[in-house]
Amino acid sequence: MKLEETLKAHGQEHLLDTAGLGEEEKRAYFDRLAAIDWDVVELWKNPEDLSGKGNITPIEGLSVREIEKKKEHFRTIGAKAIREGKVGAVLLAGGQGTRLGSSSPKGMYDIGITRPLCIFEQLISNLFDVVHACGAFVPLFIMTSEKNDAETRAFFEEKKYFGYDKSYVRFFVQDMAPSVDFEGKLLLEEKGRLALSPNGNGGWYSSLRRAGIEKEFPALEWINVFAVDNVLQRIADPVFVGATIESGKLCGAKVVRKAEPREKVGVLCLEDGMPSVIEYYELTDEMANARGADGYLAYSFGVILNYLFNLKRLREIAEERIPVHVVKKKIPYINEKGEHIAPEKENGYKFETLVVDMVRLMGSCLPFEVVREHEFAPIKNKTGVDSVESARALLEKNGVKL
Ligand code: UD1
Repeated sequence: MKLEETLKAHGQEHLLDTAGLGEEEKRAYFDRLAAIDWDVVELWKNPEDLSGKGNITPIEGLSVREIEKKKEHFRTIGAKAIREGKVGAVLLAGGQGTRLGSSSPKGMYDIGITRPLCIFEQLISNLFDVVHACGAFVPLFIMTSEKNDAETRAFFEEKKYFGYDKSYVRFFVQDMAPSVDFEGKLLLEEKGRLALSPNGNGGWYSSLRRAGIEKEFPALEWINVFAVDNVLQRIADPVFVGATIESGKLCGAKVVRKAEPREKVGVLCLEDGMPSVIEYYELTDEMANARGADGYLAYSFGVILNYLFNLKRLREIAEERIPVHVVKKKIPYINEKGEHIAPEKENGYKFETLVVDMVRLMGSCLPFEVVREHEFAPIKNKTGVDSVESARALLEKNGVKL
């Protein structure tokens, strides 16, 4: 079908106006339009059907106490795998960091007090702990998006990779997804330019694969995926790696005991008997407050976005489609008169895949409990809960000079 007919068939005729665009711009615009996945765009019609969950029950995990007892054993197994080049890490840094009010990549945010210390530098410093302990560099793959790729790469170059061996670092770019208004019409950010945004963190493996990076590191067997915003993140933690390998499971998830029932973290549980993560906005009040026989929250394992995935299994599930979440957002756009609108309320939907949904696809998962004060200092907001302030306090408690 010709592009024009396809757009008409999907009620998107408004996209056909190209008056005033140059030949080059027009070609780039049409290429984008031709690449649209209409199956995804059509999901806006019934977003609620997508989060349909099965029967949810609590999951058992490895507690801090149990881990402590076997720590050295796990560490030996994990360190060996790291030395053999079997463990790589993926830094998810394609998000937009809008909650911090900065348009630069979130990892460039300066959290220092008496000296400059950006989030990226702190993460690399955490990773160096493992490099020194194991005597081997861990391959680090950094996921960016079209919006922040150039700036992120330039920053790492400028800072000389914070001392990390750059031959172990690769960058790859995640895909972008279009946005629609509440009638399903695709939004434009400029004439001839769709309003695109990163398609969520669930596309990391398909993007990594497409970039051909795993082939450069043929010994890889495990990939540790982690978020840019947790400055206490332990990356390629040998104890976690060893425990997951020994468990025989295909994935491991670092979890903390939730601080309170409505804390904004995904919860690891069983869905129809399979390990699965329920995001905080999907958790009903009843589940959030449910208690087990021991008096603790029944759904108390909060995921901190630090997962270890088995690469062989990732390859097997690569062709499977992960659920697309249709999320209401404030999306800047141009109206039919060509005026730029920065909406104050939600005005449309974005389409996102989430890494949490991969846990279910892996088929088995080891919940691995860590001590919150040592490993979880997320920076989501400027002040208050999960903020620059709270993260600074936690870093100082862990002996980091700011
Ligand atoms: C995330 C987790 C949640 C967890 C919490 C812990 C997901 C979907 N949610 O929630 O389960 O309990 O962290 O702090 O994983 N990112 C990209 N590309 C994108 C979108 C995001 O790379 O398109 C990256 C961000 O840069 C960040 C990470 O993914 O490193 C988390 O993204 P965010 O959307 O902030 O998730 P949270 O709501 O904080």
